Amino acid sequence: MAHTHTHDNIDWPARLAALRRADDLDAVYDRQVADRLVGVLGDIAEPVVVDIGSGGGGMSAAFAQALAGHGGGRVVLCDAVGELLDAATGHVRDVAAGTAVVVEAVHADASSDQLADLLPPADLVWASRVVHHLPDQQRAIDGLTRLLAPGGWLALGEGGLSTKCLPWDLGIGEPGLGDRLTAARDNWFVGMRSGMSGVKSLPVGWNKALWRAAPFESPAGPGLRLAHVSPDGDQGFPGRVQVGFEYQLTHDNRLLMSAHATTDAPTVVSMTNHSYFNLAADPAHKVLDTELQIFAPAYTPRDATGIPTGEVRPVAGTSLDFTQPKPIGRDLPATGYDDNLVLDGSGSGQLRKAAFARDPTTGRTLELWTDQPGVQLYSAHWLHTVGKRGRFCGPESAFCLEAQHFPDSPNKPQFPSTTLRPGGAFTWRAEYRLGVDR
Ligand SMILES: C[S@@+](CC[C@H](N)C(=O)[O-])C[C@H]1O[C@@H](n2cnc3c(N)ncnc32)[C@H](O)[C@@H]1O
Repeated sequence: MAHTHTHDNIDWPARLAALRRADDLDAVYDRQVADRLVGVLGDIAEPVVVDIGSGGGGMSAAFAQALAGHGGGRVVLCDAVGELLDAATGHVRDVAAGTAVVVEAVHADASSDQLADLLPPADLVWASRVVHHLPDQQRAIDGLTRLLAPGGWLALGEGGLSTKCLPWDLGIGEPGLGDRLTAARDNWFVGMRSGMSGVKSLPVGWNKALWRAAPFESPAGPGLRLAHVSPDGDQGFPGRVQVGFEYQLTHDNRLLMSAHATTDAPTVVSMTNHSYFNLAADPAHKVLDTELQIFAPAYTPRDATGIPTGEVRPVAGTSLDFTQPKPIGRDLPATGYDDNLVLDGSGSGQLRKAAFARDPTTGRTLELWTDQPGVQLYSAHWLHTVGKRGRFCGPESAFCLEAQHFPDSPNKPQFPSTTLRPGGAFTWRAEYRLGVDR
């Protein structure tokens, strides 16, 4: 095999299990995407599908199944990491066994100028969550287009489950793609937190668990009730935790949210909502001019890894002083905001107004109400994804106001407690209230 390497200093073989888990979670959607794309290829007799940065092989397996339904074809997995490639190819061969689908593997660096020489001309090139790992993304995409047979399709996906996208989503052919991808490249790796000491990431957070869901109607508006049981030991956390989460969209433009959790053994629980807002409804319009007020006299300073030091300091004289409304961009730090503010009435447990935002161009307003002690202000500095209507969302294209307990509370006894014991209950409430003020 040719000597290849990646450009991102990521230990990819160590991520195989996580990639496979993600593949399992995405399998139903991957299959839908694969069917749709193979359908786009029409009646080509034996289409060639190339999966660049094939990872755990989930999407290649979905293509193999789709091509089997089509009557046959070739799936070519391509990855710079031999261990991943071998494991993924074995898996896809198992899936394709007994069908008219041929499975091949090519060990190659996707940013190589010779890539087109190593791969057969493709009717479809699929590249999911790989382009941002390459040194020059514009060049990489140009290179991927050179892999295509005449009339072939390039399909890029840079997000997760919900944002798998087709080429038009990234606006290929529209002006500005280079700038969008370059901005993403410049910002992406600088801010990756994985590997920093003290940061524990959950391979499959509750945001990815399969919840039971039941819609309901009430005079105030429709809602959705979600329930999940996190078994004892789930991802290292003790206790069988029963979690409930409820959303309700009221006729007066409020999104009501509440969470509830109980346990059968002492554990820690902290939940929030991490919605991204762009009140101009245009991700190309950064939120820098959005006026923001946060009813928070203090904040919890953080160290270089983003973990609170344990102090609580006044916001006065800092960029985090939003006690009077100001544009988000006015004092924006170089790497944006990602900070926990200590709300007025912290510890009261009362539902109260925590923040107010207004977009000056449209007059749209957003209020956050919560019973929580803190709010995380995030200016989406590390955002690099494809959002609604296939629009690219880059740094500062949105802001988040995450009602929450203070980060790292289990290790900071002076912070409001996130310990949950049998017989007790974790409760959380927040509301987003939307309006217009012209
Ligand atoms: C985030 S994973 C995505 C895997 C899969 N496409 C998916 O969406 O689940 C990125 C993959 O790209 C591969 N990769 C990273 N740099 C690469 C490079 N320069 N050339 C080819 N593959 C690369 C990694 O080994 C890994 O398999």
